[in-house]
Amino acid sequence: MNDRIARTLRNEPTDRPPVWFMRQAGRYLPEYREVRKRATFLDLCHNPDLALEVTLQPIDRFGLDAAIVFSDILVVLEAMGRTVTFEGGGGPKVDPVRTSADVHALLRPDVNQALPWAAETIRRFRAARPDVPILGFAGAPFTLLCYLIEGSGSREWTVAKRFLWQEPALATKVLDLLADIVGDLLEAQGQAGAAAVQMFDTWAGALTPEDYVRFALPAATRAFARVKSAPRIYYTKDSAPFLDHLKSTGADCIGLDWRVELGAARKRLGDIPVQGNMDPALLYAPPDEIRRRVRGILDAGGGRGHVFNLGHGIQPDAPITGVEAMVDEVKKWSARS
Ligand code: CP3
Repeated sequence: MNDRIARTLRNEPTDRPPVWFMRQAGRYLPEYREVRKRATFLDLCHNPDLALEVTLQPIDRFGLDAAIVFSDILVVLEAMGRTVTFEGGGGPKVDPVRTSADVHALLRPDVNQALPWAAETIRRFRAARPDVPILGFAGAPFTLLCYLIEGSGSREWTVAKRFLWQEPALATKVLDLLADIVGDLLEAQGQAGAAAVQMFDTWAGALTPEDYVRFALPAATRAFARVKSAPRIYYTKDSAPFLDHLKSTGADCIGLDWRVELGAARKRLGDIPVQGNMDPALLYAPPDEIRRRVRGILDAGGGRGHVFNLGHGIQPDAPITGVEAMVDEVKKWSARS
């Protein structure tokens, strides 16, 4: 078994930093687009055979140090009784929660009954590739609340924020419910054999620090408290304003976006492993520039307690040649004094 991720998450030395990247199974891969011709996106999420097939694609192509189970953060909202659609363009749509009656109608599913697919895909992956670790994941409560209240993606999330301030007690109730479901979902994936689990708090950076500490942070902490069987990675897309708070989620590793300098962030965070943080747009740069940036990030990471990753998900039109240059440069890295 490739143990680079496991050792890095324990802050132990490795021959080189491990590399994987967010959305590594997805539309930038021609073999993924082929599978999508015969199945909808939700079919992939709901069918462990298809999910396993696409989970393996970037592993087979690039020889990465970890797989991430194919699924989506929004399947949780389906299991809570909302309709979620991905077809039709313009990003995902959720039948939104706006009233107290909507909140009280939300279901508290048993994740093993209502959301069995990610854990099942992890078990099948472990049987197919016992040599490669696989990561589980879920959306963080606040990021899920954003889609649940807003009903779609948004730049400013004003509908979701208005709900926090106008109905703080109701919002906290929803966040607590989401935290318990997300925590159970992460724990189920850990028990199925995930080497680590990642919580995506992609939109937490939309909040002021005061609101982050009041709403998003306690909910993320509550979710992680339910996870006992695997190390926990906490990712936010705009981590800079909240660096001093991130450790208090209970995370074992902090995922960073590209707007923070990795070395400076490490100093602020203390001795906790970090993950990141190359700008996904750099994959469009010439290969020599990609390689130079990868080396800069690896040097800032210092070769211990650093999982190399992008600072956010790869774009659907990212060039494969850029990905190859990035992965190859990480693999060439060797500790320099
Ligand atoms: O990382 C991986 O390879 C694992 C699979 C994964 C997906 N989504 C597959 C996906 C993971 C970890 C996610 C997380 C996710 N989903 C997040 C958090 C991370 C982030 O990227 O910010 C969020 C906010 C979502 C919700 C979501 N799902 C959005 C906003 C979209 C994009 C809509 C679009 O068309 O760009 C999706 C769809 C989605 N999730 C796709 C994939 C491969 C594309 C769907 C397709 O095949 O048509």
